[in-house]
Amino acid sequence: MAPEAVLDQDALSVEAIRRRLTTQTVGRRICLYDAVTSTNHVLRDLAKAGTPEGTVVLAEGQTAGRGRGGKGWFSPPGVNLYASVLLTPAIPPREVAVFSFIASLALAETIHWLGPWAAIKWPNDVLVHRKKVAGVLLDLATVGDRVDYVILGVGVNLNVEREALLAALGEAGRAATSLREVLGRPIDRNAFTAGFLNALDRWYALFRAQGAPALLRAWHEWDILTGRRVEVRERARVYDGRALGVDEEGHLRVADSRGRTHRVVMGEVRLIE
Ligand code: BTN
Repeated sequence: MAPEAVLDQDALSVEAIRRRLTTQTVGRRICLYDAVTSTNHVLRDLAKAGTPEGTVVLAEGQTAGRGRGGKGWFSPPGVNLYASVLLTPAIPPREVAVFSFIASLALAETIHWLGPWAAIKWPNDVLVHRKKVAGVLLDLATVGDRVDYVILGVGVNLNVEREALLAALGEAGRAATSLREVLGRPIDRNAFTAGFLNALDRWYALFRAQGAPALLRAWHEWDILTGRRVEVRERARVYDGRALGVDEEGHLRVADSRGRTHRVVMGEVRLIE
């Protein structure tokens, strides 16, 4: 099949996404907005109102996009992917971290189908040529000791220009890139979105059938940290060490220079080799 022509500013379209979907759960309902504060916020309101599992919220742009660690997420209109997906797994809250692995795995796979090798930097930054192209923000609601719902929010720099990244993010923009910059051609956002939703659906099905260990084994294939020297920033502590891998709950294990092993739950990790 001939590749489809891609306009520089292709608009997102539910119809163009839906005709490429092969999913069971993800995408049962797709809501596309022009501009929202944050797709995670919009989906949280829909979840409270009873929208079904698999609902996807997409937006052309976000005015208050959120990143991990209380940071913002640069969300210019018409160029990237900003998506949130509602899942309702029957698990206790302590097991929810695996969902950020499901999302980053689906992202890495979708990016790799376009050509470049993608790597995942724990917990869920997706890198190409060691620069960040995508991230995952997980929001959670609980009822008693059970998960009520999980919202997987993903942001992917698809067609944003380098100059715009640098202007918005300053120095931090040097550690980011877009798939358009990497590949030297515009990315079809509808095709990418459908590919991601299809991949997410398959990894979610695998999780339901086989549990977290199967997911973590697959995630490990894309893990850039294990065996490498890293700097960890966790609350007030900063230390160097060697990443040993991820435990069964999804926490990163790091051995410091004195041979002590740390379990990183929330920290920021930087590659230093
Ligand atoms: C990160 O800091 O790496 C996570 C970034 C997640 C951004 C996405 S964009 C869609 C969804 N809505 C948000 O406000 N954030 C997530």
